[in-house]
Amino acid sequence: MNRVRFKKGFLCGVIGCFLGLSMVTQVTASESTDAREIIWVSADEKAALLSEMRAFLEASQQILEGSLADDMDVIEEAARSVGMKMMRGTPKELHKKLPSGFTALGPKAHRGFETIADEALGMGDREVVLQHLAELQKTCNKCHSIYRFEVNN
Ligand code: HEC
Repeated sequence: MNRVRFKKGFLCGVIGCFLGLSMVTQVTASESTDAREIIWVSADEKAALLSEMRAFLEASQQILEGSLADDMDVIEEAARSVGMKMMRGTPKELHKKLPSGFTALGPKAHRGFETIADEALGMGDREVVLQHLAELQKTCNKCHSIYRFEVNN
């Protein structure tokens, strides 16, 4: 083995070790600290927002079950219950506290459910319903990866 090759190999080993180590420390850091942006709300507002969230999850579950049973009435009712009407119910005071990223993704989720309700009422194709739900859940995940609520009064 010539010396140049040996040196190269040694250098790669050192760099590889360094990269590996920094990746390990990054993973540990993201596990122990919550990097999501905090949205400060009152206790009542937090309760209302989380109850809306649980309604989202419940509707999603019913849409899945309705799709398996090919029951468009179940799907339409579940999706409509968390559609635009629910969104319009958000109090003005709370709206002011929500960052623009949040107020963009929230309506997107409500609109997604409305689209599912329309599909169930219209063509009633469960494949399409499931496609919409899969797409919609990306919006849930996106928002969850960015924000969290904390109570300040
Ligand atoms: C605009 C942002 C946003 C969107 C869109 C969103 N969520 Fe959330 N959701 C949140 C935040 C913020 C929390 C609170 C997380 C925390 O404080 O740790 C939350 C919490 C939840 C919870 C926990 C409720 C509880 O009682 O603790 C559930 C369940 C949930 N979301 C379901 C969903 C589902 C299902 C969707 C999509 C159909 C969705 N969310 C879309 C922001 C969002």
